[in-house]
Amino acid sequence: MRVLGIETSCDETAAAIVERDDEGNGRILSSIVLSQIADHAPYGGVVPEIAARAHVEVLDRLIDQALHEAHITLNEVDAVAATAGPGLVGGLIVGLMTGKAIAMAAQKPFYAVNHLEGHALTPRLTDRIDFPYLLLLVSGGHTQMVLVKGLGNYERLGTTIDDALGEAFDKTAKLLGLPYPGGPEVERAALRGDPSRFTLPRPLKGEERLDFSFSGLKTAVRQLATSLEPLSAVDVDDICAAFQTAVAETLEDRVSRSLLRFRQTFPDVEKPALVVAGGVAANNVLRTGLQKLCSERGFRFIAPPLALCTDNAAMIAWAGAERANENAPADSLDIAPRSRWPLDMQSAPLIGAGRRGAKA
Ligand code: KG4
Ligand code: ZN
Repeated sequence: MRVLGIETSCDETAAAIVERDDEGNGRILSSIVLSQIADHAPYGGVVPEIAARAHVEVLDRLIDQALHEAHITLNEVDAVAATAGPGLVGGLIVGLMTGKAIAMAAQKPFYAVNHLEGHALTPRLTDRIDFPYLLLLVSGGHTQMVLVKGLGNYERLGTTIDDALGEAFDKTAKLLGLPYPGGPEVERAALRGDPSRFTLPRPLKGEERLDFSFSGLKTAVRQLATSLEPLSAVDVDDICAAFQTAVAETLEDRVSRSLLRFRQTFPDVEKPALVVAGGVAANNVLRTGLQKLCSERGFRFIAPPLALCTDNAAMIAWAGAERANENAPADSLDIAPRSRWPLDMQSAPLIGAGRRGAKA
């Protein structure tokens, strides 16, 4: 089965063709991602109107290119899948309308995919792992710990009560005069810095609940930076090192509690797995810390290749393929985009969770 996937929920325009065989093996025949980072960089963040326009300008060409690179025609595609939410509504409309139009014209079933489900199912494409597993999604718009129990069966164990982790990296960078996106910049500066010169708070560390909070940390960075002004290059490096150390410790605390919760919920799973996804998973220090924690606790640590950790359309096509494989009914072409669309419909929304509401 071959599925065309379309992703336009934030600032990446993406199209992909993914194949799934009857045994559940996935193969990416093509995956094209066009980042709009350069368009948004002057504004220090994603501008929704610019994003929507940029998607319109390139999406049809990208889909053509995805088919071409996969060496297939639209007739040889079995289904079309497009992200319907959560995300920036202008961008979602572009991808969803395009997907529906192609499905209708080519008479193929259409699947409206939750972007978070795309991230959640990626390790089944890359590593063929079985349900259930634990997912830590850390990106510019979301910070969530999710129990992935089965296809369409997700339990959110924790989420951020204020800023997403990637957002905290980006805001910290901005405060310190580093360019956008801030994550890689902060990581680079932290490498040079002395993590012991300053101590920053570890929000929610030691608390029973599995949520995250990063706005207090960001405020502490602002206060520290103000108190040191004018900042030298060494000050910036040392603050970044202190920030990253605080984040690493906080994450390890939250994640180690989640691993325990997983064990309690699924005591019979022999080789449980923690999967990380989202742009922040690119951070080497955080990644190494989580890897170490997992090996101490008998968990497998799975980090899909970076290109599949960040936003892409292969994960959307794959989510469509998984649903098609279960003979899930196709979605109606009346389906509307949803700027907010929690994976776990039972979980109460938390104030500010994924505030940008845009990136996942
Ligand atoms: O998943 P992603 O590419 O886009 C969405 O948010 O959907 O994640 C982007 C986020 C940005 O906030 C960026 O600063 C952060 O991931 N990021 C990092 C690193 N690389 C990217 N954060 C920390 N360390 C990094 N090396
Ligand atoms: Zn995402």
